[in-house]
Amino acid sequence: MPLGVRRRAFLIVLATGCTLFLAAAAAADSGGLLPPTPHSPNAHRITDAYVFILVFTGIIFLVVEGALVVFAVRYRRGRRARTAEGPQIHGATRLEIIWTVVPVLILAAIGTFVFWKLPGISGPPSASAAEETSITVEGRQFYWMFHYPNGAVSVGTMVAPADQVVHEAVVSSVDDVNHSWWVPNLGGKVDAIPGRTNHTWFKGPVGTYVARCAELCGLQHAVMGAHVRVVPRSEYDSFIAQRKNDEGGVALGKEEFDYVCSTCHRLDTTYVGPALRSNPLLRDRKGIEAILRKGVGQMPAVASDWTDAQIDALIAYTKTVKRGSQH
Ligand code: CUA
Repeated sequence: MPLGVRRRAFLIVLATGCTLFLAAAAAADSGGLLPPTPHSPNAHRITDAYVFILVFTGIIFLVVEGALVVFAVRYRRGRRARTAEGPQIHGATRLEIIWTVVPVLILAAIGTFVFWKLPGISGPPSASAAEETSITVEGRQFYWMFHYPNGAVSVGTMVAPADQVVHEAVVSSVDDVNHSWWVPNLGGKVDAIPGRTNHTWFKGPVGTYVARCAELCGLQHAVMGAHVRVVPRSEYDSFIAQRKNDEGGVALGKEEFDYVCSTCHRLDTTYVGPALRSNPLLRDRKGIEAILRKGVGQMPAVASDWTDAQIDALIAYTKTVKRGSQH
């Protein structure tokens, strides 16, 4: 390769590498190369382990890539004949011992650190019954549904008490598929698997946190998001009490419409499924129940395990949707 071409190729590779590196940093949310800011003890420990490993891998990356560049420049062929043989070296005992022992020590250090952090990631701190709660997180194509201790339900937004241990039982309906519950600020990913209950927890301050599905689960996986709204305990208690009182009400119905129907439908335009505004099913309790519980064509049985009150809630809401202009 002529020198000019070689130099240009080198610059292009360098520029591409830098661009990819910066793009990755920018894409990783506000934390740059780090995970999003942790707001729960388990999330803190995950970030600690990440940083600990990043230090070693960062050093190794610099040493290896640095040596690569230095060697490529220093030992380039230059004017030597193409057929000239380099010096023949057999064995370098000291070097070989170093490059065996150092990685062993690094792996031992990483292993020790992770196993030291692990119990505090998987197991919640102990708390009295009054200072904790349990919420079942159910993944479904393509929404998240939350079941509270008193039987109340919410869809798309989990409400949870602040600064208390929230035990999460993560499940998927037996007629559904695998999902993965992930609230990056509040901990790691947990699979939602049909027929199995997995457990996780968090303990976080007041705030709203973004959750997403982290397991490819079908057509609308990418929009299968949710929010976790962490509020003072008294607000949490009154939310679930009120929700239980009004279990067939418009508030739940709107959540169901916004997070379940709207995943695939728009009111006025065709999206994944047809437009809904002038669909007579919006006012037909029996009809809408049949299609929701059994599915039809490409539409999954999104509500196969809903209570009657949940269907009532949806129809109560869809009846408020204004009909399109009809001639
Ligand atoms: Cu559910 Cu991806």
